[in-house]
Amino acid sequence: MAQLTALLVSLLTLVLSISGVISTTFTIINKCEYTVWPGILSIGRSPAMSTTGFALQNGESMTITAPTSWAGRFWGRTNCSQDSTGKFSCVTGDCGSGKIECSGNGSAMPATLAEFTLGGAGGFDFFDVSLVDGYNLPMKVVPEGGTDQNCPSVGCLADLNDSCPSELKVTSADADGNVACKSACMAFNQSKYCCTGAYSFPSTCKPSRYSQIFKSACPQAYSYAYDDKTSTFSCASANYTISFCPTRKFLTPDRITPIRR
Ligand SMILES: *[C@@H]1O[C@H](CO)[C@@H](O)[C@H](O)[C@H]1NC(C)=O
Ligand SMILES: *[C@@H]1O[C@H](CO)[C@@H](O)[C@H](O)[C@H]1NC(C)=O
Ligand SMILES: *[C@@H]1O[C@H](CO)[C@@H](O)[C@H](O)[C@H]1NC(C)=O
Ligand SMILES: *[C@@H]1O[C@H](CO)[C@@H](O)[C@H](O)[C@H]1NC(C)=O
Ligand SMILES: *[C@@H]1O[C@H](CO)[C@@H](O)[C@H](O)[C@H]1NC(C)=O
Repeated sequence: MAQLTALLVSLLTLVLSISGVISTTFTIINKCEYTVWPGILSIGRSPAMSTTGFALQNGESMTITAPTSWAGRFWGRTNCSQDSTGKFSCVTGDCGSGKIECSGNGSAMPATLAEFTLGGAGGFDFFDVSLVDGYNLPMKVVPEGGTDQNCPSVGCLADLNDSCPSELKVTSADADGNVACKSACMAFNQSKYCCTGAYSFPSTCKPSRYSQIFKSACPQAYSYAYDDKTSTFSCASANYTISFCPTRKFLTPDRITPIRR
């Protein structure tokens, strides 16, 4: 009887998810003291999100409903501005579209990424916070209402700007000081850091001195391409909150202002 009930429940879940009734929402919150322009890129055959880029002032949030089986990534752009010709660009995380919307363009490295595959194997959502393309902002992903034993809050809360080794540092005159930290792959373009060529296997591409700096600052985040074991998480039927500078400022929920578009 219990088995039959379980079967019916899973059939119902399947029907609901196929018909798109179960949907996933992402709430993006900016807790940084400055404005962040989130960017969103859909990957693979995933349908696009309703928006691919917008601005969030300190304390603002935006909730987006994802298409079924969406896969893609979120990141934050900082120090964005529009020049006299109307071209929009950012000091970090720029997507090269020239506009606030990224429209299918990804982020310029370095940028901290939150990556998702919704409704993947076994119906689970898989997600991670990645420093494989470097670091620009602290980020945290908090699943809400999800199940599965491997469904924790995941983030990179450290300020890797300052602990970044000097050979990986990105500085900007526009933003007084260190604005981001490159990955070793980006800085040196060598196979052993990029996990390419002879190093394109988990058995041959090992953590480096540089990836270990990222890993010790942010143990839950991907520090190099084959860092899966400690960096991939999964939830079933969750919604997700993604925050920038999660610990920077303590904002109570009523101080978070949803924005309307
Ligand atoms: C970004 O998108 C724009 C169109 O919105 C395109 O013209 C440009 O080449 C793209 N840039 C990159 C780096 O992909
Ligand atoms: C990065 O470092 C600079 C200089 O120390 C600091 O002003 C900025 O707030 C840092 N950014 C983040 C996101 O931690
Ligand atoms: C996710 O958000 C939607 C829309 O707000 C809501 O209907 C649904 O119950 C939420 N799911 C969970 C698991 O909290
Ligand atoms: C650039 O961003 C930093 C925070 O990372 C902020 O303190 C600074 O005011 C910004 N500068 C400009 C020109 O937007
Ligand atoms: C990185 O090195 C490869 C060859 O090892 C080269 O094909 C590629 O263009 C280089 N990329 C950059 C960004 O320099």
